[in-house]
Amino acid sequence: LPHFVSVENLTVDQTLALIKRAEEFKAGTPAPELREPVYVTNMFFENSTRTHTSFAMAEKKLGLTEIPFDASHSSIKKGETLYDTCLTMDALGVDLTVIRASENEYYQALINPQADEHLSIGVINGGDGSGQHPSQCMLDIMTIHEHFGHFTGLKVAIVGDITNSRVAKSNMEILNKLGAEVFFSGPEYWYDHAFDQYGTYLPVDELIGQVDVLMLLRVQHERHAGDANEASFNAAQYHQQFGINQARYQAMKKSAIIMHPGPINRGIELASELVEAPQSAFVEQMTNGVFMRMAMLEAVLRGRKLGGLA
Ligand code: CP
Repeated sequence: LPHFVSVENLTVDQTLALIKRAEEFKAGTPAPELREPVYVTNMFFENSTRTHTSFAMAEKKLGLTEIPFDASHSSIKKGETLYDTCLTMDALGVDLTVIRASENEYYQALINPQADEHLSIGVINGGDGSGQHPSQCMLDIMTIHEHFGHFTGLKVAIVGDITNSRVAKSNMEILNKLGAEVFFSGPEYWYDHAFDQYGTYLPVDELIGQVDVLMLLRVQHERHAGDANEASFNAAQYHQQFGINQARYQAMKKSAIIMHPGPINRGIELASELVEAPQSAFVEQMTNGVFMRMAMLEAVLRGRKLGGLA
């Protein structure tokens, strides 16, 4: 892959190959030896703990050289465009960049055919606004694969602030492609019936006892500017109506898992005491993130023939 900006165009075979590779890395398969140095910079214009740090960890494990980039002190603050920032990195000799930005599809300006004639930097999307979050999606399906060994017929419920979630967009697409049965739940005001093409919207209590995966989404207050539902938001009420409390946890299938991309609003999407419960895969998801990001970076290294890899 020359870039990794979305899961939209990934084939089932490519998806399964990435899961296999990430699972190999997790099992201890050493990273391929690089014959030439590869430089990478992580440009995060939105806050991040997991994605930023696990990309840095994955880069280290692959033997890449990370060039530090501090978004808050960068010339983006002086009005420089993202394209010109990438042009700069490219001119300095940076081979790859991982970018998180608040604008949906920011990457189109960097990877279109015209830009491609001038920029020779590989782009990996660390999350674009409410668009896509491919690395979170890939680590999520790796985690599901580890638990169930397959996707066909698995029932997966995506619950919460779906309209504003890039995690939901990537996951609903790929889960459909892989043959899982997708359901949606949560507040109807944060659900768009355009998603009906990917799954069925149902009340959470109708889903709880029948699904294999309960994928909870963070309430994304930072994306609710101008949303009347933000002003009337009540955390306790949300938890009571849509959150996973002890009673709902007890109603789950014993083989089912809870997932959450993090960060968790404890006591809202999930009762605080359930974050590390036996059926919660939250910590495992974060661990898997390093290995899946290694697999994704390696795919781009090979796609661009960097480090002497073909
Ligand atoms: N899941 C996720 O993207 O977390 P961060 O915002 O901490 O990277």
